[in-house]
Amino acid sequence: MKDSTKAVKEDIEDSTKAITTPIYQTVAFMFPEGEKFRYSREANPTTLELGKKIAELEGAEMGIAFSSGMGAITTTLFTLLTPGKSLLVTMDMFGRSLRFCKDFLANWGVKVTISKPGNENLLEAAKRSHFDVIFVESITNPLLRVINLPELSKIAKENNSILVVDSTFATPINQKPIEFGADIVIHSASKFIAGHNDVIAGLAAGKEVLMKNIDLMRRTLGTSLEPFPAYLVIRGMKTLKVRMDVINRNAEQIAEFLEDHPKVTKVYYPGLKSHPDYEIARKVLKGFGGVVSFEVRGGRDEALKVMRSTKVIIPAQSLGGVNSLISHPPTMSHRTLSLEERKIIGINDSLLRLSVGIEDVEDLIEDLDQALSKI
Ligand SMILES: Cc1ncc(COP(=O)(O)O)c(C=O)c1O
Repeated sequence: MKDSTKAVKEDIEDSTKAITTPIYQTVAFMFPEGEKFRYSREANPTTLELGKKIAELEGAEMGIAFSSGMGAITTTLFTLLTPGKSLLVTMDMFGRSLRFCKDFLANWGVKVTISKPGNENLLEAAKRSHFDVIFVESITNPLLRVINLPELSKIAKENNSILVVDSTFATPINQKPIEFGADIVIHSASKFIAGHNDVIAGLAAGKEVLMKNIDLMRRTLGTSLEPFPAYLVIRGMKTLKVRMDVINRNAEQIAEFLEDHPKVTKVYYPGLKSHPDYEIARKVLKGFGGVVSFEVRGGRDEALKVMRSTKVIIPAQSLGGVNSLISHPPTMSHRTLSLEERKIIGINDSLLRLSVGIEDVEDLIEDLDQALSKI
């Protein structure tokens, strides 16, 4: 079955034969009827259906829904790691994920190694010693470096490491990390998967032997997703393929427009030949995604002026929805990174991150052009 069919197909045992997944908004299920369903933190039919859908789309054995992307990440890493075990991550990942690994897991006794951005640094670090877990974002935030997953998973297998991939930026439409040898794939479903900027949720999918333990941890930590947001994600997912087709196309056109713009000094988009990972991106991605980052002529003030001058594009921190959003990573999503970390990653004060939506691309280009004309 193809992705667009998997995305709309629902499969739920329901005595009413409803053709969409009902919202089972209940805390408990009558005892002793249901062995499977007793209490909704443990298992809920709407939430379970969402877990099944991400497993199908990612080609995984089992999928689980969480209260947020961070819920999925923390629960997964808490399950796979204990004090004394080792973890490899890259510095250019979502700020809060990095903080969790660098501050919390390290203080707990996990040996955390942080590699500098870029495949060369990552692959070299992965080869240098054994890691129990390697955790990467397949397309990094905000400079959109593309991980060489086939090479990384080969090293992970040779070294008996568990490879966990945050695929939020790629989505299962543009890349399926499990096909490249990843053991677990994670999503902030708050982004492209739900796709409407109206729900916070997380997902993880992978090998059943690992996922069963992660599921036990979810029940224990209580990072379970409520049925109503689970319903919203299932509903959003039905249009994931059509949204991503438009978003990939819009973002490519916008990246090309920005690259030629006199007020723009640099554009980061994996689909541009100028991107350092263009060649690997062509091998591992079916589409280059919906995020375009760029530096404007000037510094912090000019970047903030452009961000505040858009009329169609909304200045806000998230990404992946039907509406285009623009943000300033140094003062927003990546503000928790130290100046030194931002410098190493290459997050300059003039950087803006654009999440391209499904609006007409001509309107988006016109909006960016008029906002850039203000500096
Ligand atoms: C790549 C990535 N992973 C994880 C998260 C965290 O997800 P959530 O906000 O759903 O907790 C984010 C949020 O921005 C993200 O960009």
